[in-house]
Amino acid sequence: MTPVLELRDLTVDIPTRHGTLRPVDAVSWSIDAGEILGVVGESGAGKSMTGNAVIGLLDSPAHISGGEVLLEGERIDHYTLPQMRRIRGKRIGMVFQDPLTSLNPLLTVGEQLEETILRHLDVSNAEARKRAIQGLDEVGIPSAKNRMDAYPHEFSGGMRQRVVIALALCAEPTLLIADEPTTALDVSVQAQITALLKRLCRERGMAAMLVTHDMGVIAETADRVAVMYAGRLAEIGPVSQIVGQPRHPYTDGLMASTPAASAGQARLRQIPGAMPRLGRLPTGCAFHPRCPKAEDKCRVDPGPKVGEADDRAACWFPIEAKESAA
Ligand SMILES: Nc1ncnc2c1ncn2[C@@H]1O[C@H](COP(=O)(O)OP(=O)(O)OP(=O)(O)O)[C@@H](O)[C@H]1O
Ligand SMILES: [Mg+2]
Repeated sequence: MTPVLELRDLTVDIPTRHGTLRPVDAVSWSIDAGEILGVVGESGAGKSMTGNAVIGLLDSPAHISGGEVLLEGERIDHYTLPQMRRIRGKRIGMVFQDPLTSLNPLLTVGEQLEETILRHLDVSNAEARKRAIQGLDEVGIPSAKNRMDAYPHEFSGGMRQRVVIALALCAEPTLLIADEPTTALDVSVQAQITALLKRLCRERGMAAMLVTHDMGVIAETADRVAVMYAGRLAEIGPVSQIVGQPRHPYTDGLMASTPAASAGQARLRQIPGAMPRLGRLPTGCAFHPRCPKAEDKCRVDPGPKVGEADDRAACWFPIEAKESAA
């Protein structure tokens, strides 16, 4: 089966006067139909840059400098802006943290939905309207038909994010990229929105890349989890293993410092230090200055890629099952 999304050594560079920064460094992963890949990591790890690279929304001078992005087996990383615009909204839906960035304040939500449907699907005006109402209904907007004529500001934050999800899904994309979709919302609304995303992926067989800081959301929603650190993929695996038996010392630290992931543990443990700035990456493995397991090799040799030293973790000395159980 061809994955819906496949990244092969995706690399993003930002040329600056002081040299080239690499916010995304040879990241590889794939997402199958119906699957939700959670993407986690500290602020600045490169999560948003990775998502933006996939949808061709990198702000210049940031650009894809290497690797490949395949959408249903087709390379899209070299697409021109017009080619990318045809895919965006149609084959790839997007949801960002702030719903207002995705909505036009001057148009009713009905107009925006109908316009998007007509742009991407070969249907009549009447059919577009019908689908727009269905879309609002599907994401749980009460009396959807009447709300078609309302403007974005007439909705609450949670309802507005539902409208954005309806908009992202109305052209029936095969891939959804959601970047902190629930971070700005109340906890109860967060749970509703994540449940909604999960249901829609199952029902439609849609693949999703879900970027979030919230391990609770990840544990609830993701099938697999990718952990990023300083632009690289530190670890990737099924959610139960990432949360319950991390193999990369960074994943282990991240889980131990997160209340949702370390439930039942005596107390939270912080990872010492901070993630390095891109212009000042240490030699060897970028995590070594903070790593309790670092040895000489880690200070000199670049960290291995996932699959080189361990099939899940990009680490020379991954945590063995019995170690983390101790
Ligand atoms: N225009 C730019 N010039 C230089 N560095 C940049 C620029 N834009 C982003 N960066 C850097 O790229 C890195 C990756 O940023 P990115 O937004 O992908 O992080 P993130 O993992 O999404 O973080 P957050 O959790 O805060 O959203 C960060 O170190 C950031 O400082
Ligand atoms: Mg981000």
